[in-house]
Amino acid sequence: MNLGEVDASTWSSLEAATNDPQSGFRFINLCSVDAAGRPQARMVVLRRVDTAARLLEIHTDTRSPKWLELSHNPFATILGFCASTRVQLRLVGAVRLYSPGSELAEKAWSELSTWTRSTYAGGPPGNELGNDESVPAEVEADGKTFFGVVSFHAESLDWFELRSADNRRAVFGYSHLGAVMAARWINP
Ligand SMILES: Cc1cc2nc3c(=O)[nH]c(=O)nc-3n(C[C@H](O)[C@H](O)[C@H](O)COP(=O)(O)O)c2cc1C
Repeated sequence: MNLGEVDASTWSSLEAATNDPQSGFRFINLCSVDAAGRPQARMVVLRRVDTAARLLEIHTDTRSPKWLELSHNPFATILGFCASTRVQLRLVGAVRLYSPGSELAEKAWSELSTWTRSTYAGGPPGNELGNDESVPAEVEADGKTFFGVVSFHAESLDWFELRSADNRRAVFGYSHLGAVMAARWINP
């Protein structure tokens, strides 16, 4: 594979993962920075990919710590690993948050299954179980009130392929419109 092929295969694997629960990149690690400047990481489902714009879309509860962290500091990193191809992807960039009621959140919500919708209908994530008196039952019943979309724009990609003899690693830089601005092999 040449550098162009590495970039293309990375983004086609990410796109494929949004439709394939078995894909190694279906679940990715979203890392943010909290108010104390500490790194925070958690697994999320990769919901949608726009290769041309270098966007990755994630759904979350707007009452969660990650939403608060990202609204104060939009810089984020996404880390993924596919065990079958032994490829690690580290994407560094920034997010835009689409709050409940925004066009993008409305559209994404309309495409969710009933079961997935129900996962947003409980008490605030992170609150002690059974301590949700502050949320009126009628608000809690409709998870849409808390449903937000995180749109992550990749500014760079660090691609690492773990091989038995000769590991390979390449880095790519993307413009704000998503064009490849730089690509080079580096020592693993
Ligand atoms: C496999 C897996 C997938 C997950 N997908 C999501 C997701 O798509 N969105 C989400 O908000 N949380 C998801 N979670 C839960 C998060 O990892 C996390 O525990 C939760 O959102 C609270 O994160 P926070 O306290 O950093 O906001 C997932 C957890 C696992 C184990």
